[in-house]
Amino acid sequence: MDKVEINQYVSFSKVIQGFWRAHDWQWTPQELNRYLHELVERGITTMDHADIYGDYRCEGIFGEALKLSPELRDSIEIVSKCGIVLPSERLSWTTGHRYDHSRQHIKQSVDRSLQELNVDYLDSLLIHRPSPLMDPNEITDALMDLVKAGKVKSFGVSNFNKSQYDLLNQCLVCDKLHITVNQLEVSPYTLDIMTDGTLNYMQQDNVKVMAWSPLAGGKLFDLADDKAKRIMAIIGPLAQKYQTSTSSIIMAWLNKHPAAILPVIGTHQISRVDEALAGFDIKLSDQEWFDIYTASLGHDIP
Ligand SMILES: NC(=O)c1ccc[n+]([C@@H]2O[C@H](COP(=O)([O-])OP(=O)(O)OC[C@H]3O[C@@H](n4cnc5c(N)ncnc54)[C@H](OP(=O)(O)O)[C@@H]3O)[C@@H](O)[C@H]2O)c1
Repeated sequence: MDKVEINQYVSFSKVIQGFWRAHDWQWTPQELNRYLHELVERGITTMDHADIYGDYRCEGIFGEALKLSPELRDSIEIVSKCGIVLPSERLSWTTGHRYDHSRQHIKQSVDRSLQELNVDYLDSLLIHRPSPLMDPNEITDALMDLVKAGKVKSFGVSNFNKSQYDLLNQCLVCDKLHITVNQLEVSPYTLDIMTDGTLNYMQQDNVKVMAWSPLAGGKLFDLADDKAKRIMAIIGPLAQKYQTSTSSIIMAWLNKHPAAILPVIGTHQISRVDEALAGFDIKLSDQEWFDIYTASLGHDIP
């Protein structure tokens, strides 16, 4: 699989594996280690984390699996996120639920991530969510410290709209500090960034968009959900036409967008990973793409 250049130091695979649900998989380190090898064999080398995933446990689960094959570190890219504090009974400093974009919190969060993941650096660090209290100068100072310490190779944001992106990006002047990615929710079920201008704005600034929950977290397969039912009534027959799975059609739909969206998949079933990859071989017509789009909108386009 071709890679996508993020900056001069980092490239991502076109499909990214997410680890938000890794705590629920209940795998041994050996089982997760085998899965990591299966991903890398398929060209999926970029692994998406956040400090808070799984009550702050998922990075550690990954780190234990990575320890079994330390050489794997050179074949993969690790993304993590910081900036959210969630209350956890296990961690005494996590009092309350808030965003914390202070220099101290960002640096401490990265240090904890590196320790949990059992690595020396992150390929990319994302600010997980924008905060009303966000001071771009303070974030810039934290990021500068992390670059100087060799702990982070590139930066990005997640869930930032245009103005939040602009506010931070105008402070990030040097090459290594440029915002390279914005991780946003988008799928045939969730179109907001396609309709509110965020996706176009990122495309215009050459910021790569990572799509979280590209299958709407599995909601698209819940036929008790009226919107999902409407969308799948279009996707189902297309899967039959292209002799493929519905997941492959969903990935083909995302892939047709000119912004070259990078899906962050959340499955832990290798057969479903293969379905995601198969989506890259399917070229939907414009009409097929719009049939899915309007089914999601729930009304025709003007
Ligand atoms: N930046 C953010 O704010 C943010 C927020 C949320 C998530 N994320 C990132 O995005 C990643 C992916 O999110 P996600 O897990 O919601 O992605 P997703 O790929 O949309 O959903 C994955 C879920 O759908 C299920 N699924 C997949 N195919 C299915 C099928 N054919 N039928 C029924 N269920 C199916 C999976 O179960 P199986 O495992 O059994 O296949 C899994 O539970 C996360 O791991 C995280 O890295 C980021």
